[in-house]
Amino acid sequence: MLETFEDLAALRARVADWKRQGLRVGFVPTMGNLHAGHHSLVELVRRHADRVVASVFVNPTQFGPNEDYARYPRTPAEDAVGLDGAGCDALWMPSVETMYPFGAEQAVRIRVPGITDVLDGAHRPGHFDGVSTVVARLFNQVQPDVAAFGRKDYQQLAVIRYLVRDLAIPVELLAGETVREADGLAMSSRNQYLDPGERAIAPEIHRTLQAMRDAARAGDGLQAVEAAATTRLRGAGFQVDYAVVRRADLSDAGEGSAVPGAYVALVAARLGRTRLIDNLAFDIG
Ligand code: PAF
Repeated sequence: MLETFEDLAALRARVADWKRQGLRVGFVPTMGNLHAGHHSLVELVRRHADRVVASVFVNPTQFGPNEDYARYPRTPAEDAVGLDGAGCDALWMPSVETMYPFGAEQAVRIRVPGITDVLDGAHRPGHFDGVSTVVARLFNQVQPDVAAFGRKDYQQLAVIRYLVRDLAIPVELLAGETVREADGLAMSSRNQYLDPGERAIAPEIHRTLQAMRDAARAGDGLQAVEAAATTRLRGAGFQVDYAVVRRADLSDAGEGSAVPGAYVALVAARLGRTRLIDNLAFDIG
């Protein structure tokens, strides 16, 4: 039976009680408006923990001034029902005041260097500082033994791995597979912003990622692979922020044919007012 907490002391008491009993605590941080992708993260953590906490917090510090913080879908009642069904034990719903006692503007900020300068870090300045800032706080609040993040947010996962290692946060990280609609579109709370015409076009991102992987494996130069992907997406009606192939650690993979190794193709593109991201990891070799 899911228990909802809005008070930090009460949440801490519950988690401390579980730990006194020797139970392992798992955690799934979210911004709510939960879908099957989030539920699969709860199920993943459940397999590695005795109790599962999920948080729902739409984090103001990770949205840019012209982004969708105000209109981000908030569906707490439906979220609680879904979490209960997925086997979650506790729902942590902090207020902005609880998360940022000195106010979001005056919050101690955490900045992961290097990997946050590229891709979404370059296109959404400050975004990953906000993510790192809130995830560190959530880890302090919940004190989980294990936590899960989705592979769909590939760069976010890399940032959080760095954060946990660099700050020696005692949590094991799990990566959940991207859950897709039948037509390949990666599940995202932002998909509901799409009008019917845009929704019909959106799966082209996944098809483009597959084409990028296939072309890279066939030995095409990566610069040509990226150019073809950008042209394809623009032709379908997207405004493309990036369509790139990187090494799995997000470092530059060069412009020529890929040498054997682990790679990831990543796309961020807009349809109207909706920005979608997706990626596809693959090996060559
Ligand atoms: O991936 C998300 O939903 C958010 O970025 C996270 C990790 C919950 C931090 O607000």
